[in-house]
Amino acid sequence: MQMERDKMAFKVPQMKPPQINVSDEPRSVLMDVPVQASCSTLRAGGYRNKVKLAPGHSALDWQEMVSTKGKAGKLITGIDSIREDPKVLEHFKEVNSPQSLIQLERGVPTYAIRPPLCIDAHELARHNTAEDCWTVINGKVYSISSYLSFHPGGAKILIDKSSGQDSTVLFNRYHRWISVEKMLETCLVGVYVG
Ligand code: HEM
Repeated sequence: MQMERDKMAFKVPQMKPPQINVSDEPRSVLMDVPVQASCSTLRAGGYRNKVKLAPGHSALDWQEMVSTKGKAGKLITGIDSIREDPKVLEHFKEVNSPQSLIQLERGVPTYAIRPPLCIDAHELARHNTAEDCWTVINGKVYSISSYLSFHPGGAKILIDKSSGQDSTVLFNRYHRWISVEKMLETCLVGVYVG
């Protein structure tokens, strides 16, 4: 009788393990981007897609870069290409205020121009290479070529999925807690006007 009771006491209830469903995302958003099953923005339990960064490319190294080259306005690519092409320059002048253009002419780094430069979809799309890579996150245009080799998720995903495009949805999907405004403060080109 006692033995029967002991058996009952150690009977483990049969429960199914929790189901983690990563396939309920809209197809258009995930496309062929690797699914971050363990990324806290997505789901719990799984794997990470962080890459091994080259020596000298830690988050601290990036901060150092921001406070030196960044402050000097040296992390922004592609501005010269606007001045070089008369057609592009003409269009750029149409969408920007004379105040902003004067500051640009005087060599004020774009992140410090007030009011900020206005960048439209046409201009954004021209900066779509690793050497001159612009992207939009939360309505702001950032020049991220210098950041590519510091990105813990790898350069490739940024070049493939965000260069010359608005990457707000993907950015927020992977890591909406990251303060991009702070991290890329000196990479700011201007505001996105679509
Ligand atoms: C350009 C602005 C971006 C910044 C400043 C940034 C920054 C970061 C940082 C700091 C991490 C490490 C997160 C951690 O330690 O948990 C990370 C990871 C990652 N990022 Fe980004 N990111 C940016 C854009 C993007 C975009 C647009 C995508 C997708 C297209 C992306 C995909 C990833 C992935 C896949 C990881 C690895 C996540 C993991 O394995 O947990 N990132 N990023």
